[in-house]
Amino acid sequence: MDAPQDFTMLMEKGMKELSAHGAFLSVKSGAGTNTMTISWGFVGFIWGKWHFITVVRPQRYTKEILDGGADSFTVSIPFGDALKEELAVCGTESGRDTDKSKTVRFIPAGRVESPVVEGCHLYYECRINQIQPLDGSVMPPEVLQFYGAGDYHIMYFGEIVSCHGYY
Ligand SMILES: Cc1cc2nc3c(=O)[nH]c(=O)nc-3n(C[C@H](O)[C@H](O)[C@H](O)COP(=O)(O)O)c2cc1C
Repeated sequence: MDAPQDFTMLMEKGMKELSAHGAFLSVKSGAGTNTMTISWGFVGFIWGKWHFITVVRPQRYTKEILDGGADSFTVSIPFGDALKEELAVCGTESGRDTDKSKTVRFIPAGRVESPVVEGCHLYYECRINQIQPLDGSVMPPEVLQFYGAGDYHIMYFGEIVSCHGYY
């Protein structure tokens, strides 16, 4: 039997890199495979387990893939300047128009169907167990200003089933 993994490994470094440079949120479902850049999200403890919570706006193609029956997502965090160009492309172009597998190299994750992006330093493999739209009616103005057209993020809670760090 494998030794239990430490899902908090490199967490502080990972969250700093996520907020400063971004990470790849990758999803595979019956609707296809896609990745997009994220810089909002967090690791937290709920229901007795470690989770990564990612927030996705409704207009993202990634949301369509999630809605296509995905039961998992992965988060691949490059550190420093690694994959800077790729983060820029995946954060500005949509998988509706661009095949992002030509921008990044997807490789199989160990425990979930969604792939990870090669060349990153910290990986989370997550099983989706809660989907929760944010509620604009309870947002103060300083939060509401982030939403132009009521496009409130949808929160995806992913139980971390595997975590790998290379640093
Ligand atoms: C640095 C950076 C961080 C981003 N973070 C998020 C995020 O947390 N949530 C989100 O919905 N979009 C975020 N975006 C926007 C998406 O990455 C972008 O709209 C992307 O083109 C969507 O791709 P898709 O249509 O293939 O899903 C971010 C973009 C950048 C450049």
